Amino acid sequence: MSSTTILLCVSVTAFLVQTCYGGATAEATGPLFHFCSDSGGNFTAHSPFESNLKTLINSLIYKTPPTGFAVSTIGQPQNQQAYGLALCRGDASPQDCKTCLSEATKELRSRCQYNTGAIIWYDYCEFKYLDTDFFGQVDNTNKFYMWNLNNVTDSTAFNHKTKELLSKLALEASTNPKLYASGEMKLGGGGESNNNKMLYGLTQCTRDVSSVDCKKCLDEAISELPNCCDGKQGGRVVGGSCNFRYEIYPFLNN
Ligand SMILES: *[C@@H]1O[C@H](CO)[C@@H](O)[C@H](O)[C@H]1NC(C)=O
Ligand SMILES: *[C@@H]1O[C@H](CO)[C@@H](O)[C@H](O)[C@H]1NC(C)=O
Repeated sequence: MSSTTILLCVSVTAFLVQTCYGGATAEATGPLFHFCSDSGGNFTAHSPFESNLKTLINSLIYKTPPTGFAVSTIGQPQNQQAYGLALCRGDASPQDCKTCLSEATKELRSRCQYNTGAIIWYDYCEFKYLDTDFFGQVDNTNKFYMWNLNNVTDSTAFNHKTKELLSKLALEASTNPKLYASGEMKLGGGGESNNNKMLYGLTQCTRDVSSVDCKKCLDEAISELPNCCDGKQGGRVVGGSCNFRYEIYPFLNN
């Protein structure tokens, strides 16, 4: 894998934010993005919610790594219960998963200190908590895009291939018990120099949603390809319940 410097951009349409940062093609270790939510007001230090949240975090760091996904509810009903979910990328080892969640939860606690809801994403994991039960509902609120600033040469053919690969992977993920799929496709068709170029992709949903909702969530994300990643060498649409990523270099562990 080359270590050429590339620029990654992040865009959050709801807030009209767009930031870019330089990086290498290796996986980033820092957070990709986060949202703090105070729709339910803020909680206070030493409240039952804070204590439930701390227990929730420890529970998810323990429960998630063996399978890559877990949900947990901590606290007595009607007494500031904390609901949480953790997901690791389908190819992450239990150790990578645990390391990522430890980092993500620590980071989120410091970035959204008294928020009753928050979500954070890393390359290898996602963590979300809320003061209400959100399990099984597709999260259409928290979403961001990332793309590689570099353009491909033949964007029309490339965009078509990207959509084809991701649509196939969306169907595969929705029918896989882990709601995850990865794959590759020959780009070809662009003359001699393109003959052995490949496109790599992944699709994944959080496992609290149904197979049908997973497919719907991914199809919706894929429909945003023209907005996020038109002719770009790499791109992602990342939401609370599903995400996809494609690159022209292999980025998965297996
Ligand atoms: C919650 O706390 C943040 C600072 O941590 C503050 O900016 C915000 O206004 C608070 N929200 C409410 C609803 O109190
Ligand atoms: C990619 O294409 C866009 C739109 O045509 C252009 O604005 C941008 O400068 C190009 N990026 C690079 C790295 O050449």
